Parts: sequence; C-alpha cells; structure tokens
Amino acid sequence: MRRLFPVTDQTPAPPRDAADLADREWSLDELAEAYAYPALTADGHWLRANMVSTLDGGAQHDGRSQPISGETDMRIFGTLRALADVVVVGAETVRQEGYRPARAREAFAARRAACGQGPAPAIAVVTASLDLDFSLPLFTSPLVPTLVVTGAAAPADRVAEATRAGAEVVVAGEGAGVDAGRVVRELAARGLRRQLTEGGPRLLGQFVAADALDELCLTISPMLVAGGAQRIAGGPSVTVPHRLAPACVLEEAGFLFTSYRRI
Ligand SMILES: NC(=O)c1ccc[n+]([C@@H]2O[C@H](COP(=O)([O-])OP(=O)(O)OC[C@H]3O[C@@H](n4cnc5c(N)ncnc54)[C@H](OP(=O)(O)O)[C@@H]3O)[C@@H](O)[C@H]2O)c1
Repeated sequence: MRRLFPVTDQTPAPPRDAADLADREWSLDELAEAYAYPALTADGHWLRANMVSTLDGGAQHDGRSQPISGETDMRIFGTLRALADVVVVGAETVRQEGYRPARAREAFAARRAACGQGPAPAIAVVTASLDLDFSLPLFTSPLVPTLVVTGAAAPADRVAEATRAGAEVVVAGEGAGVDAGRVVRELAARGLRRQLTEGGPRLLGQFVAADALDELCLTISPMLVAGGAQRIAGGPSVTVPHRLAPACVLEEAGFLFTSYRRI
C-alpha cells in the first residue's frame, strides 16, 4: 500500500516520507496512526462512516458488500473498528451481513487502554421494528453489551426481549424510529464518543441529512456492478450539497482508501 495524499514533501529526492510512498504492506500500527480520531474536547464526539463503493457507485453485490471489498479493505475495516468506542449500524445490514460482536484484538489492546477504551467497541443496532434474532451471539455474548437504538414507541414486547437477551436499549426518537442527530448525542452521553457507522445506505443517508457526519472513510473498489445496487447513502436529498475536504488517500491493488472530513 502507498500513500497518495497528503504528500508533504516530494522534493528533493528521496522524499522525507519515502516509507509512505513506497508500495509495501502497512502494519496495523501504521494504519491506526493514519486513521486516528482527531483529539476531542471534553464533551466532543466524532462520527465517521466506513463504506465501500464500486466505480459505478454500487454499495453491494448480491445484497452484500463482501464481493466488492478486498483483503486490505477488510484490514482497514478492522482498524477503524479497533479505534472506535461504538459501531453504529442499521438493522438491515445486521440482518443481511450476519453481524457478530466486535472482538478484542491484541494488536490494538495497548492503544485502546491508553485511550480509556474497553477491549472492543460496542455495536449499536438502529432499528424501529426490533425484528432481530436476539438469540444470536451479537446479543447474547458480546464483550461489551450490544445497544439497540430505537424510538420511544418501539414494540414493547420486542424491547423486553432485547433487554432479556442482555442488550441495552437506547431511546433516540419520539415515534417508532430514531432521529439520526439524537443517536449521536445519546451515544456520546454514554461515553461513546468515537463513533463509527458502517451504514447501511439508508442509515448513512439520515446521518448525512442531519449533518451529523464528521468524516467519510470511503473505499473505492476497482469494480463495476451495474444493476440496481444502492449507493452508499440513500433517502431524501440534502438541500445544499455538503462539502468535505480530503484527509487521506491510500492505494493498494487498484483500491483507493480515502478519508474526507467536515470542513
Ligand atoms: N458498501 C458498504 O460499505 C455497505 C455498508 C453497509 C451495508 N451495505 C449493504 O447495504 C444493504 C443494507 O443497507 P440498507 O440501507 O438497506 O439498510 P440499513 O441502513 O443497514 O438498515 C435499515 C434499517 O435500519 C433501521 N433504521 C434505519 N433508519 C431508522 C430510523 N430512523 N429509526 C429506526 N430504525 C431505522 C430500520 O430497521 P428495522 O427494519 O429493524 O426497523 C431499517 O429497516 C445490504 O445489502 C448491505 O450489504 C453496504
């Protein structure tokens, strides 16, 4: 993998950051440095999304993102998880991708401890229906309790079942559904301030519309899928396009690993 942006000094040769520019496998430590969260104020929070898109804008193939991903994309996916306090994900992605609890990873243990983080991020599933299989390990045996984020009018029997399974139910909306901006605030109020959303597109679109997204880590996969695949963010359009600034672009085997931040 090599860094394409930022390139701080390309002259005179050899450049100061020749190690970055050379095409070689990056260690997990180097990836963690490249994707470190910004410093947060005492009550601050940061929501980043990690998504993969094909060249023609597809966010999935055959209903899953795995066919358009790759080995390095999965390493970065794992790194981003390992840096986060919480992974926020829509229920449909949980159902389609068979989500499991996040695991503790030795390679990131010291970094997490230094940041006051537990061994693994919590998974927070956003759902109105709570139509989830609460007998799955995601709910019954995570390292840290899985959160179910829903509205105040969510079905009481499903809420009771989620709680029985060991999940913590977080209310972030007055109706059956949640308000995306409130999701961020409710999680931050629980000390989960370094936030990562893994989509899917319907949930990400709501974070965008609520102007709650601080950073997009977008993998551009060198593939075409055509067909009716979703884009990475869906739902109603924003009134004025939100402009972000590039923070980092890495390349490996034709995949571009980009990160854009709120200006
Ligand atoms: N390319 C990528 O990086 C990427 C990433 C993630 C997912 N994907 C793909 O995207 C597809 C799934 O994404 P999706 O957009 O269809 O679904 P999604 O965003 O993962 O989940 C949608 C579900 O989330 C819940 N939800 C969303 N907004 C809500 C709100 N305001 N209040 C309460 N609950 C809310 C609802 O759950 P209930 O139905 O339970 O009420 C809704 O059906 C899959 O094919 C997956 O493979 C791709």
